[in-house]
Amino acid sequence: MNHFVVKYYYGWFFIFCPHNVKINIVKICTKDKVMQVFNELSFEDGLPIPLQIKNHIKKLIVGGMLRKDEKLPSTRELSSMLDVSRNSVLKAYEELADDGYVRIEHNVGAYVLYIHVNTEENWELSWEERLSQSAHIADQLDLIKNTVRLEKKVINFRGLAPDKEIFDIEGVKRAFLNIISKEGYNVLNYGYAKGYKPLIDYLKSYMRGKGIDTEGKDIVITNGFTEGFGIVLSTICEEGDSILCENPTHNTALKIMKMHKLNVVGVDIEANGIDTFKLGEALKKNNIKAGYLVPSYHNPTGTVMPLEKRVEIYKTFKEHNVPIIEDGFSEELRYSGAHIPPIAAISGKGNGVIYIGSFSKILFPGIRVGWVLADKRLMTSLESIKKSSNIHTSFLDQAILYEYLLEGNLDKCIKKSRRIYKERYSFALECARRYIPYEEITGDGGMYIFLKLSKHIDCHRVLAECYERGVIFTPGDIFYVEGDNHNTMRLSFANVDLQDIEKGFSIIGEVVNNI
Ligand SMILES: Cc1ncc(COP(=O)(O)O)c(C=O)c1O
Repeated sequence: MNHFVVKYYYGWFFIFCPHNVKINIVKICTKDKVMQVFNELSFEDGLPIPLQIKNHIKKLIVGGMLRKDEKLPSTRELSSMLDVSRNSVLKAYEELADDGYVRIEHNVGAYVLYIHVNTEENWELSWEERLSQSAHIADQLDLIKNTVRLEKKVINFRGLAPDKEIFDIEGVKRAFLNIISKEGYNVLNYGYAKGYKPLIDYLKSYMRGKGIDTEGKDIVITNGFTEGFGIVLSTICEEGDSILCENPTHNTALKIMKMHKLNVVGVDIEANGIDTFKLGEALKKNNIKAGYLVPSYHNPTGTVMPLEKRVEIYKTFKEHNVPIIEDGFSEELRYSGAHIPPIAAISGKGNGVIYIGSFSKILFPGIRVGWVLADKRLMTSLESIKKSSNIHTSFLDQAILYEYLLEGNLDKCIKKSRRIYKERYSFALECARRYIPYEEITGDGGMYIFLKLSKHIDCHRVLAECYERGVIFTPGDIFYVEGDNHNTMRLSFANVDLQDIEKGFSIIGEVVNNI
């Protein structure tokens, strides 16, 4: 016998074959089963069809619906059933073979390989009981979780994300294509913790333009201010140390200091920045490790510290030998008057000021690029701490940003931001005066103003009622070290047009007047 013979006896198929031929016993997916398992596949828009077929078959295999050695339907059969091209099915089968889910026998078919997923008895842990203290602190301080959830369209005075009109999509696209063709491999591979060298050089020169002496100093690129601040604290502070800041201050910075388990000493802020007398007292009384300051467009008060005060503050810190961590996040958003040099510039060749910069407000927060400028002797530690947490900031992002900056786009973006925000800023001040019965108002530019209302007003209550009427803002207590001053609010106009500023402020005013 030199050929195969199939015979049917008593309900069984018998295959007779030459004695030296090995037969693979295979299970063929029956038509019913094919119908059943592939009927569940409904294609989503956007994802390539072969990928969706492949993912579906993978699910069937690991879920045990398709077993070892089962033969998949032919490409012709499946393509007509799913109403897709035969090539799509063929591509899916080939990729399944590449991934080790099926084997393909040329001119015969595709067979399921043995994939064993252990599904032992359920193991249920009570994770709530296992949360660390840091997780609890982070949870409690998570603003998004703990403030009103946006379930409807509102006039939003809460967000600080730049207006989308400022985003120069075409410029970024160009920068991306240019850098990929110039640097390709380099920016897709691992890079250095310190950052992308051309960007570092650009930033040093940018810092010199602000009057900062960069000799003896260096830069490490970080994932925005937020990571930079965390790295600096990890480098110079121990758990339980005292750190000084303006009170109120940037809520994220407050959160980071608390996450580092530092004792936060808040010093009151006046119309032109931190109260210098109280600062001196606090530095005298407490063993302070460092002071965190936002001299320009302070968050949340929007105040800008004048030059004389910067000099006075610098001298006070110097006298107590306490370093300053300066946050220069939006000092470019100046709408009038002369440029005020950062405190890091006042320190000249000195090394007592660590400057943290960010492109989040003047370019794009999504690219998450910031930088820390500090004494060269601090660099190796800053770099090592950065490396231990995330190796480095995305080189691709840094390179795109660098290419974008090279074309002179920063100035264009800043000009555009100033034009848009300046108009909103002046109008917001005007509307606040017209509609909201405040006791004090601050804000010298930037993206927000800060209001202090009569002592008996609780801004959380105002917020709850405003939300019902389609307006939200940030209650000011979240910026205070002790969470007090419930009669304050920050109103950001970053993403609100003039019409909505007027409408929103008049609603806030009505709510406050009715309390
Ligand atoms: C005071 C302050 N610093 C820095 C930043 C920017 O942080 P990042 O660069 O992490 O986006 C913000 C953003 O709102 C801020 O308010």
